[in-house]
Amino acid sequence: MSVRDLNLPQREPSRGELPSRVTIWEVGPRDGLQNEQTVVGLGTKLEFLDRLAAAGLGTLEATSFVHPKWVPQLADADDLLAKLDRRENVRYPVLVPNERGLDRALALGVESIAIFGSATETFARKNLNRSFDEQFAMFEPVVRRARHEGLEVRAYLSMCFGDPWEGAVAVDQVVTAGRRLLDMGCFQLSLGDTIGVATPGHVEAVLGAFDDVTRLAVHFHDTYGQALSNTLAALRAGVTTVDSSAGGLGGCPYAKAATGNLATEDLVWMLDGLGIDHGVDLDALVRTSAWMAQQLGRPSPSRVVKALTGG
Ligand code: HMG
Ligand code: MG
Repeated sequence: MSVRDLNLPQREPSRGELPSRVTIWEVGPRDGLQNEQTVVGLGTKLEFLDRLAAAGLGTLEATSFVHPKWVPQLADADDLLAKLDRRENVRYPVLVPNERGLDRALALGVESIAIFGSATETFARKNLNRSFDEQFAMFEPVVRRARHEGLEVRAYLSMCFGDPWEGAVAVDQVVTAGRRLLDMGCFQLSLGDTIGVATPGHVEAVLGAFDDVTRLAVHFHDTYGQALSNTLAALRAGVTTVDSSAGGLGGCPYAKAATGNLATEDLVWMLDGLGIDHGVDLDALVRTSAWMAQQLGRPSPSRVVKALTGG
């Protein structure tokens, strides 16, 4: 089932102000699962990744090479990568905060990594145990070495639209921190609304303050129900890569106000309605999220998953 099957009016594809294709950066296996209190088994994680790949998702953020004490749910990252049946047409980025994480990733033949910085001092300390400036010093050798080894390096920037401890975050502060990450040599910068407080006008203001929107991606959590509207604002501003999580799983263990990411199914439904290509089989994806919800013992928060599974 898709928006097309309901015979609803659809926008004509590619009328100019919106992209004709969007890359979905699926973060469910990492951002989605990192916050789960009960440990999800390795077999379930591997099956989740395999089903997401089979549903047509070409980028699957698989896990994190962080300190296992900091994120116990992803303590099996090395095992997961060793056992993962990597498909040729799928990239499997992993989060890497420091050189120790990079060593682990390189040992397992990872080809794509993401560093993750904070736009605010407080979250840098809470999430990385580093000051705002120290975080860049930690990332710099990671990016240098990773690029030398031929890896693709993405950067995240958290708290771009508000911080639970510091409140409002100035647009200039976001741009300055984001440029520092891009200037290290990251191919893309994903702007995170970690606690889901952004609204579309704010998104326009932040994106508009960067000179080159083509290197930006967006990462919206859906705490206040704004993630899809914010995504549309970002697409209109020229963004073509959108992070989302199957079934709306997610949160951040070091930002208590964070709930799940924008659900991939909700994103796909909107993209279909807008005539924008994405390459995902919505039925297969919904079946995967319904299965994952069973594994986790609670329903998916995605509106589209609920609507299409009669839940
Ligand atoms: P630290 O305690 O300052 O680490 O943590 P350290 O450098 O002082 O090292 C202490 C010990 O940890 C050493 O071992 C290291 O070897 C070991 P010892 O010598 O004592 O035996 N160690 C490691 N072991 C395994 N893998 C590693 C590693 N690094 C050090 N990579 C650290 C600093 C960065 C490691 C820690 O703060 C950390 O792991 N933080 C990760 C937190 C996290 O994963 N948060 C969630 C992801 S971010 C997010 O969700 C936001 C995002 O979705 C975007 C958005 O929504 O905004 C991306
Ligand atoms: Mg996140």
